[in-house]
Amino acid sequence: MDEAGSDASQPWPQLASGFEQARAREDSLDRLVEWPAQRELLGDVTGLAVLDAGCGNGSKVAQLAAEGAVEAVGVDISGNFIEAPPGVELVEGDLSDLAAVPGLAGRRFDRILFLQSFGYAADGVRALQVARDMLSEDGFILLTRTQPVRYAIERAEQNGTSLGQEYFATESFDYRHSNWDDRVTLTKRPYTMSDLLNTFSAAGLWIEATREPQMPAEARVRYPHKQAVMDAYLGILMFRLRPLGSGSAHTI
Ligand SMILES: C[S@@+](CC[C@H](N)C(=O)[O-])C[C@H]1O[C@@H](n2cnc3c(N)ncnc32)[C@H](O)[C@@H]1O
Repeated sequence: MDEAGSDASQPWPQLASGFEQARAREDSLDRLVEWPAQRELLGDVTGLAVLDAGCGNGSKVAQLAAEGAVEAVGVDISGNFIEAPPGVELVEGDLSDLAAVPGLAGRRFDRILFLQSFGYAADGVRALQVARDMLSEDGFILLTRTQPVRYAIERAEQNGTSLGQEYFATESFDYRHSNWDDRVTLTKRPYTMSDLLNTFSAAGLWIEATREPQMPAEARVRYPHKQAVMDAYLGILMFRLRPLGSGSAHTI
């Protein structure tokens, strides 16, 4: 069993357009906090081959192509893609086994991204092992996931329980995202920090850098309602992961 739990992917074709509309808003946390921090942790992509697993509509990987990535591939189960610019491949497929996605067998990538998508892998350890084996020399995985504390706080508020009760709960729960489409129910498996870190170890990866990105000062003033969300629910975790035995101590 996947230690970090796995969330069901089936609702995504229905949820995709609501998600992208919410993400495109000028006050979305993806625009204000997540993408700028993801972009920074990714570094210069000039001349690199990049694979975005669970790429949404593909606009992030398209931007990386515009910034110099020579191969830019996005994979998503929803199939709800922008028109791919020249040089960008957007493929409908399952991130649970990237090597089995049409056109990807035998290919190598310098950067493999799991941006808020890793939780949907059928087996997180296996998905990361497959991705690790698709990395080129000196390649890394950039993985971001919601702070597990956020769900625990939300559930404690909803259920009148405590943070610890919900953080250490193991039963799946239904989750509706009011900003995306509150008619669509996602089934989520709770996970703890140790679940997440043990998944990386079990997949043969080490953490080179971690971030817990926050709103820039100007955005805090401009969008206080979003700062209130960050203050209440913390945001996301970001990890740069390298295969064990590779890489060296870089500046974090
Ligand atoms: C929260 S969105 C994140 C999208 C994008 N990575 C971003 O950062 O904006 C999660 C994405 O994972 C995709 N997804 C869910 N299950 C998947 C699966 N099994 N294989 C591939 N993509 C999946 C969804 O369709 C959705 O686009």
